Amino acid sequence: MKGKIALVTGGSRGIGRAIAVKLAQEGCDVAILYAGRKEAADETVALLEQAGSRALAIQCNVADGAAAEAAVREVEAQLGPIAVLVNNAGIVRDGLAMRMSSEDFRAVLDVNLTGAFHMIRACLPLFIRRRAGSIVNITSVSGMMGNPGQANYASSKAGLIGLTKTIAREVASRGITVNAVAPGFIETDMTAGMNEAALQKGLAAVPMGRIGKPEDVANAVSFLASDAASYITGCVLKVDGGMYI
Ligand code: NAI
Repeated sequence: MKGKIALVTGGSRGIGRAIAVKLAQEGCDVAILYAGRKEAADETVALLEQAGSRALAIQCNVADGAAAEAAVREVEAQLGPIAVLVNNAGIVRDGLAMRMSSEDFRAVLDVNLTGAFHMIRACLPLFIRRRAGSIVNITSVSGMMGNPGQANYASSKAGLIGLTKTIAREVASRGITVNAVAPGFIETDMTAGMNEAALQKGLAAVPMGRIGKPEDVANAVSFLASDAASYITGCVLKVDGGMYI
């Protein structure tokens, strides 16, 4: 992927950082978008530069369509034509459905699903004009299996799968691939907040018996974004230690 330009949302930490670093190691120049923690974004930029990449971090709330458009314009102005878009930004606001506020339901949909749509809508005209580009959306096995306490999150992630398959069909003839990666249980800030009982319960559901690493997800994303996957579109690749078989 030497010289290609990649844009990774939510690249300041966790899975997004691992994806950004992996793409940089594969030869991409990488821009990341992040929500708030500038120090974390700066750390990612340093790691990308160490890997030999030109790197850029932009604070951008992907739930805001105009901000997403502006970020895409800025990346193209500073780094050049984007070839790879990874929609990784995501949040959780867990709670049982009967007690979940509309605000908590909507906030998760706004970032995880509408945010990805905003980014795709901003990039597609550019990709179509160039008849090239790959999009990888980070969904979750929660969106495939359902998960108690995650009505908002699982809905957003199931929606991302519908979005992936629809855009894949819309642009397949233009040389653009659109795929999703569905992580299972991965060691990041998102899972670090879990108590021991919830962690053990989660692990019991993983046939491989261990939590995954952000790099496990990054390897799958890098493959789907590469020319090696040029005949793969509309697929959902699980990276879950067998959690959902
Ligand atoms: P994290 O909480 O460590 O990082 C989330 C990233 O998203 C951060 O960079 C943050 O700045 C960014 N972000 C949040 N809201 C944003 C917004 N409105 N606009 C732009 N950026 C925003 O999360 P983690 O664990 O690295 O997850 C990354 C993705 O992988 C998420 O989509 C998550 O749903 C998904 N995932 C994670 C799993 C896990 O076990 N950790 C399992 C399955 C899926």
